[in-house]
Amino acid sequence: MKYLILMGSPRKNGNTHELVKPFMEELKTNNNQCEILWLYDMNIKPCLACRVCQNYWTSFGCAIKDEAQIVFDKILESHVIILATPIYSWYCTPPMKSMMDRMVYGMNKYYGDEKGPSLWAGKKVALITTCGYRPEKGSDLFEEGIKRYCKHSQLNYIGMLVERHLGYNTEFITEEKINNARLFARELMMLQ
Ligand SMILES: Cc1cc2nc3c(=O)[nH]c(=O)nc-3n(C[C@H](O)[C@H](O)[C@H](O)COP(=O)(O)O)c2cc1C
Repeated sequence: MKYLILMGSPRKNGNTHELVKPFMEELKTNNNQCEILWLYDMNIKPCLACRVCQNYWTSFGCAIKDEAQIVFDKILESHVIILATPIYSWYCTPPMKSMMDRMVYGMNKYYGDEKGPSLWAGKKVALITTCGYRPEKGSDLFEEGIKRYCKHSQLNYIGMLVERHLGYNTEFITEEKINNARLFARELMMLQ
């Protein structure tokens, strides 16, 4: 299986990445392909609502010529998409939100004069998040938003790993969290 991790954290070796590392290791050990795209390192502009993409029912068709095309192509090649992000203001970080907006139009041809297809129907989506508040008050709104995003896009939402960060002067990663990340990878593999 091919897993694509869309990484929304700006921090290399930050908290979210510390969870993603053992998660990826577990997938690779079990003969899965796994690639990570660091969205902060990519040129992904916000959607401008021009709706040019709605004229193209078999391709991205976005009028903005930046690196969102790379994300589009890699999603279509993958079976499982992992959105990995720290929670910022109760949601994901800005480049991930831009990417989500670009894909909700570019992948779903629902918004032209006639309703077209979802180009990514049936793909699986999972979340890896870290947050400062208790998970039920930190990551809950993002998870709910993604559940609706998936239903709307005909994607299959398969679950979330969330871990809490108790402050920048505390050590985030622990053996327990590493183990939870490995277990989450195994849970997703069982859904294959
Ligand atoms: C600008 C900013 C906004 C944040 N907003 C929230 C928030 O709304 N809820 C929350 O629980 N944590 C919030 N946090 C805390 C981060 O989600 C948390 O520290 C996370 O583990 C950072 O992950 P990273 O090391 O991958 O960047 C915020 C942090 C920053 C820097």
